[in-house]
Amino acid sequence: MLAGRSLIDPSDFTREEFREIFDLAHQIISNPEKYSKSCEGKILATLFYEPSTRTRFSFEAAMLRLGGKIIGFSEPNSSSTAKGESIADTIRTIECYADIAVMRHPKEGAPRVADQYITMPLINAGDGGHQHPTQTLTDILTIECLKGNVENKVYGFCGDLKFGRTVHSLIKFLSNYEGVKFVLISPEELRVPEYIREEVIKKKGIPFEEVEKMEPYMGELDFLYMTRVQKERFFNEEDYIRLKDRFILDIDKMKYAKQDTYILHPLPRVNEISTDVDADPRAQYFVQAKNGMFVRMALILKLLGIY
Ligand code: CP
Repeated sequence: MLAGRSLIDPSDFTREEFREIFDLAHQIISNPEKYSKSCEGKILATLFYEPSTRTRFSFEAAMLRLGGKIIGFSEPNSSSTAKGESIADTIRTIECYADIAVMRHPKEGAPRVADQYITMPLINAGDGGHQHPTQTLTDILTIECLKGNVENKVYGFCGDLKFGRTVHSLIKFLSNYEGVKFVLISPEELRVPEYIREEVIKKKGIPFEEVEKMEPYMGELDFLYMTRVQKERFFNEEDYIRLKDRFILDIDKMKYAKQDTYILHPLPRVNEISTDVDADPRAQYFVQAKNGMFVRMALILKLLGIY
C-alpha cells in the first residue's frame, strides 16, 4: 500500500511496490488522457534548495497533466529560509497548504529529517551526493521501455561515481534484481563510496569491476550510464579541473559499443557526451528525461492513493 507514504531512499519501497508504480507509468504512457483529471483539487509543493531543470519541471508538469495544481520555490532565498527558518518549520507550514511535497536539498539526509515532521507524502528529489530515487524511477522505466526488463544485463556507469547521487540510487535499486553485473568506470578518486561497494554491491553478491578505461569494456555493456563530474561537490577547483574531462563519449568511442547498447545520462551534461552522439539512436537521454514526467505522474497518483 503506497498511499500516504514518502519516497526518500530506494530501499523505502519493495520490488512489488515499485512494480505497481512502473505498471501505472506504462499505462499512463499508453493513454495519458485517461489520467488528465485524476488530481483535480490536489496541490503539489516543490521545495528546491538546489538548482534543477528536469526534476522540478517534470514534477510540476506531471501534476499539471494530472489536473492538479502546484506551489513552491526554486530559490530558497525567496522563502523564509533566508530569514533563518528551519526545514522542520518550513515543511510543517507547507503541509498546511499542500497534499504532497517534493524536496531537493544540498545536505544529505535533509528530506529524511523533514519527513519526520509531517504526515503528507514527501519525495526526495536529490539530497547532496547521497540519493535521487525518482531519477532511478526514470532510469528504470526507460530501461524497461528499451529492453523489457532490468534483469540479466551488464550496466556500465561512467564518470563521477563518488558524488553522482543518481548512480548510488540506481545501483541500490538494480542490486535487488537477478543477473545484473556492474562495470564501474571512473578515475580512482571518483569511485563509488565505500557504503555502496561494501553494503550494497558486495553484500548482495553482485559481480562488478572497477576500471579506469571505457573502450575495452563497451562491447560487453547493455547500458552505459554516463554522468557529469559534479563540480558543486568538490572541495577544490584544481581537482575538478584535473578530473572533469577524463571521460568523453564521442562517435569514435561509440564504435566500440554493441548495436543495442543504449546510452543513458540523468542530465544535465557538461561535455562528457559529445553532442555528435545525440543523433545516434542508441542515445536515449532525452527520452529518459521525458519518461521522468510519466513515472512521476504514476508516483504522485500512488502516494496520494488515487490509483
Ligand atoms: N537529472 C536531474 O536531476 O536533473 P536536474 O538537476 O535538472 O533536476
